[in-house]
Amino acid sequence: MFITRFSRLGAHAIKNLIKDPCLTPRTSYFPVVHNQCLVALRHQLYSSTAAKVDSEDENEKNEKINVTFVDKDGEEMNIKVPLGMSMLEAAHENEIELEGACEGSLACSTCHVIVMDMGQYNKLPDPTDEENDMLDLAFGLTETSRLGCQIIAKPELEGLRLALPSATRNFAVDGYKPKPH
Ligand code: FES
Repeated sequence: MFITRFSRLGAHAIKNLIKDPCLTPRTSYFPVVHNQCLVALRHQLYSSTAAKVDSEDENEKNEKINVTFVDKDGEEMNIKVPLGMSMLEAAHENEIELEGACEGSLACSTCHVIVMDMGQYNKLPDPTDEENDMLDLAFGLTETSRLGCQIIAKPELEGLRLALPSATRNFAVDGYKPKPH
């Protein structure tokens, strides 16, 4: 009885092999894979690998945003800034003249930048009291002024445009102590 069931299972497996257009039994036990099926399989494999590479490129692109710095002479510098990086760090990495005397510790206003578009300015988180204190000392303060070390790249800031003021003041780093409000 066991042998009969075993041979029935074997016959069923061979029947299924014959039905598969990619597999034809040369004999009852050794199926041959058709050439065109191999080509199709290879194509499937390569196209899914290419799609993976494309999506990795896409991810890499999405991890950076385009930012334009405009200097006091109106000259534009377009850079790509990785998400999470401050505009001060990005400027330094790209040799853009944004001072940053206190290196981002909110003790100066030398990283003052002007967000050129009100819509983009509104996408930024509100400045902290410490940032406002330092901004009060900035030369040429405007209503869209921010400190470059406090603007962190995030996807919604894609296309951010920042103007560099024509001068900076460096009271805090030179020993100036702002009075509490
Ligand atoms: Fe000093 Fe930004 S670098 S506050």
